[in-house]
Parts: sequence; C-alpha cells; structure tokens
Amino acid sequence: MCGIVGYVGFRDVSDFLLEGLHRLEYRGYDSAGIAVMSGDEIVVRKRAGRVGELSQFVKDNPVKGKIGIGHTRWATHGATTDENSHPHYGGNGEVAIVHNGVIENYDSLRRKLQQLGYVFKSQTDTEVIAHMIAHHLAEQMKLEESEPSVESCLRAVNLTIDRLKGTFGLCVLFRDCPDTVIAARSGSPLVIGVGKDEYFLASDASPLIGYTKDVVYLADNEVVVLQPTGMKIAHRTTGSVRPSIQTLDQVSADIDLGDYPHYMLKEIFEQPTTIENALRGRLDEEEATAVFGGLNITAQQLRTIDRVVLTACGTSWHAGLVGEYLLEEFARIPTEVEYASELRYRNPPMGDRTLVFSITQSGETADTLAAMRECKRKGHPTLSICNVVGSTIAREADGGIYLHAGPEIGVASTKAFTSQVTVLTLLALFLGRMRHLSYPAGKRIIKQLKAMPEKIEEALKCHDRIQEIAAKYCGFDNFLYLGRLYNFPVALEGALKLKEISYVHAEGYPAAEMKHGPIALVDEKTPSFFIVPRGGIQPKVISNMEEVKARKGAVIAVACEGDEEVARIADDVVFVPDVEEYLQPLVCAIPLQLFSYHVALMRGCNVDRPRNLAKSVTVE
Ligand code: F6R
Repeated sequence: MCGIVGYVGFRDVSDFLLEGLHRLEYRGYDSAGIAVMSGDEIVVRKRAGRVGELSQFVKDNPVKGKIGIGHTRWATHGATTDENSHPHYGGNGEVAIVHNGVIENYDSLRRKLQQLGYVFKSQTDTEVIAHMIAHHLAEQMKLEESEPSVESCLRAVNLTIDRLKGTFGLCVLFRDCPDTVIAARSGSPLVIGVGKDEYFLASDASPLIGYTKDVVYLADNEVVVLQPTGMKIAHRTTGSVRPSIQTLDQVSADIDLGDYPHYMLKEIFEQPTTIENALRGRLDEEEATAVFGGLNITAQQLRTIDRVVLTACGTSWHAGLVGEYLLEEFARIPTEVEYASELRYRNPPMGDRTLVFSITQSGETADTLAAMRECKRKGHPTLSICNVVGSTIAREADGGIYLHAGPEIGVASTKAFTSQVTVLTLLALFLGRMRHLSYPAGKRIIKQLKAMPEKIEEALKCHDRIQEIAAKYCGFDNFLYLGRLYNFPVALEGALKLKEISYVHAEGYPAAEMKHGPIALVDEKTPSFFIVPRGGIQPKVISNMEEVKARKGAVIAVACEGDEEVARIADDVVFVPDVEEYLQPLVCAIPLQLFSYHVALMRGCNVDRPRNLAKSVTVE
C-alpha cells in the first residue's frame, strides 16, 4: 500500500519519478506527489487523485532537478486531499519525506511537536516524521553550530525512527544536503536500483525496469544513504551492511498492457502461460513426482511432518483452501488454512512437526508476513508460495516456491490464484509421493497437470458467452456463488472478484450450506452462480440448483462441456472443459474472473484500480 520512488543521479528526475509512480499506481491511487531538489530548495508538487492528474499538474508547473522522491497514496490517516498527499515538508521546508506504512504513536508525537511550535498542515501520521527529522536536525545544528552534513542528516533520521512505533518505508530529501536521499525501512518494502553514477529507489522493482538490472533489497531496520557517488547501507543495530546485488529478470514487456484494454484482462488471458511457467521444470516423470529447487528442507524432515498450516489473505487464502483439500487427499497430511490476520494474534497448538506455508502473490502482505514471523519465532519451518521474487516474505521464509507468473498489476488477483493452485497441486503430489500416493497415481496427476495450459486455453473460449451473461445480469445488486468440495473455494473467489471490482454484493457458500440460511436471500432479484462441473456429488449440487429455481432465483451455471442436464435446469450456462475434480478450480475460476471483469466494465467501474483497494496490503 502506497508506492514510493526516489532518484539521485543525472537524469531529469521529474520524468523518472512520474513514470515510476505510474508503474506503482496499483499500490494506491488516492493521491500522488513528488519533491525535487531544485536549486537550493525542495519543490513539492502534489495532488489528490490519480498519477495522471499529477503528471498534468507537473507539465503545467514544471520542476527541474536531478534528485527527488515521489509517492502514490492509499489513504490511512486523513482524507484524500491535496494537503494530505505526500511528500510532506518538515520544519520550514528543510526536509521532505514520503512514507509507506502506519505510525501507531503518531498522535502523542504530534502533540509533543506542536508544543515545540511545529505547525501541521495535514492530518497524516507521516507529517509527524517529517517534523521530527527536521527537529532533530535543527537540534544538532544548534549543538554543533554548523551546517547540516550527511552525517547529521543520517543521525536525525535514526533518532526519529528510534521513536516511531508502527511500520514504515520512508524516503527523505534534505534542503541543505542537496545531493542526498536517505531511506529506511521497517515493515514496508524498499528496493534500490544500482546504476552508474545514479541510484533508484522504489517500493518494488517495477519502476526500475528498463533503467537497471542490478538491485538491492533493503531489509527491515536498514537505512541507506544514496548519493550519485555511492550508497551506504547500515543496519540500525549491527552497523554497516555490504549490499547484496541481485539481478532483476523482469523486462518492459512484463509490465506493458500490449493490446489489452486493462491489466486484469491481460492477466486473465496470460493464464495458459503462467500455469505452464508454474509447472516448468517441476515435473519428474521418471519418479512420478514433483521437484522443487528452493524448499531448503530435507526429504527426511518432510517425511516427519504431521501437520501443514497454510496462511494467507484474500484470494491467496482461497487458493489455500484448495490446497487443504489437495494436501489432505493426496498426501493425507492434516492441513489447516488460517487467515494470516487471525493467526498472527492467535496461539493455536502447533506441534514440532508442523510445517507452515505462507501463500502470497506480493510477498509483502503485512498480516501474512507477521503470521509467518510468529510461526518462525516458535520454531516451525516456514516456507512461502510467492510470486514476487525478492519480496520480504520470499526472503524471510526458510525456503519456498515461486509462482513465476510475472508481475500481476491489476488489483484483482487472477493469474496468481491459478498459479497458486497449480503449485499447491504440485506440492500435494510431492508430499503425497513421499507417503501414500502410488506411482500410477503420481503418473496420472502429472499427465493431467501437463494438459492444463491447453485446458485453460479452451476455458478462455467462454469469453463471448460470458459477455452475453454479464450483459444480462450486470444490473443485479446481489449474487450468490455456490460450489462444493474443490469448487467451494472457487465460489468464494468468484464472489470476492465481483465484490472488489464491480462493487456488487456477492456471497460465496458451500452449495449445501445454502439451506442453512442464505437461501432466505433467494428471490427473483438475487441470481445464483452455481459451479457445478461433473463429479461425485454433482447430483446433490443439481438439487440445490432446483431449490433456488423453485424460489424464483435465476441460476447461472458453470458446467462441463456438453452437460445437457445442467443446461436444462440453469437459466444460463457457461461451459468449461471436463477435467479431474481436483483440477476443476483452475478451469472454473476463468468464467468467474471474466464475469466480474465484464460486469465491472458495464457498471462503469475502474477495473484495474477499484475504489478503496490497493494491490499490496502492507498495513494491518
Ligand atoms: C483479491 C486480492 C486480495 C489479495 C490479498 C493477499 O483479488 O488481490 O484479496 O489476494 O490482499 O495478497 P497477497 O497474495 O499479495 O498476499
């Protein structure tokens, strides 16, 4: 949540900052701003609204310089006004800062600063940091009777962050140290791009693509001083850190829209490829199992595991539910799926042989990170299933599996979900083959997995049909999504997709639970989406469809190609390819993703930037 950029070097900094903010806009889009070292002052341009509006504002009011910082905001403290937009000045313009995170003790700090005479122009927690840095700098200058130096600026930052409670990724400009940017992180991500006589800084690597391939991921409690001539990183307790430079393997095409009107649609249509990428190099046909490079855990340890905990939020949590069913069916390991936001504060009994997986697209979700750290503290091996390479969760986990789905930019998660389910299927195969799963069963799973990219391609052919269905139902304000077993999480996911981008109320339920309450909602104004592909208990779900029809509720069904019985009962049907039950979430998710996309478009919603949301939830 919130995106930060920074630059020191020789380029026209406004251009880089604005382009970077465009690329980070998915992290928050309530307001945006930049601060540029221009001559001997820091000039701020900021605006409530999208980065596009800021770009226009900067075009009309240009600001030149070669050192600067920028921010795109997801509001936490204070409404989305120009004043609350970042950057914020501290003191009388001696510093300017941008901040991602939440300062929990800001109120008491604010009162102390007000007593000292600092005047606040915003309602944000961030302005407290700005004034505190300015204050500590001024205090030192008084003592030393000298002009600010890089050392004194750094000391002012460190003295300030020592007093902050909460999370932050922050980036600071100093009027009197005009060639310097200082950045620090505690809980909110920052990555540094290393160029020749220039350094870049951002909340994630996307603004750096096309500028440099050499990156350094700042760790928690590290502070970096960037100047065109070099960078110095120090850990707040252990001192100087030798930067570990890693290679960024993303290319511009990964973040380009191409011919698609929206990232969400592009990402939905990427799924045949992303599933193939999740499988690549991980199928061992000889041994009828899966192979993973980075688990960092021995086969012997894995054999002794007697419980798995999957922890995640949102869509990733839904993928975890599919994972629970897969792991219990194939590996026969008792598995629980925990909301990370709950697990972080709960203390469930977890034995020595419990393995914890954090499932996350971004690798930065604050709750998932905190839950993982809590489990680590208690000595459990913690692994991640993550998309973003080098993200905090991927780095802090003992080991893990990358999705290799490429950047997911649309705020609604689509391709990450199917990649997570694919990886969880591989994991169930892998752990299953260490235990009870037979060689022929392993062979069969591999064969079916290999066919999935093609099956997804076929499932995507429902696009036209889904558009017709969306046109028919886009005016309805309430939906039920119903499915059973492997398709119960798909029902939850379909409902979440519709809610988040169309702002239409939708509830996901196990189809059979409907009669225990939700059926009271059914009437001619509440259509139900049934996920009802062929399988053992399909007849039971068909009975549930009949129950809805009997109460005048419209039924839209996702069914297997050629299923005449479902087609006869449902008001509208969309067909997907017939696959084994445990793979049905992969094909059945596709029409639901497309449905929410088209309903959102038809209702005039911003598909890639839905209101109130941000892609990466780095606050609690
Ligand atoms: C929904 C969505 C969110 C995320 C959730 C977890 O479309 O995107 O529900 O799934 O915020 O995010 P990650 O997977 O990045 O931890």
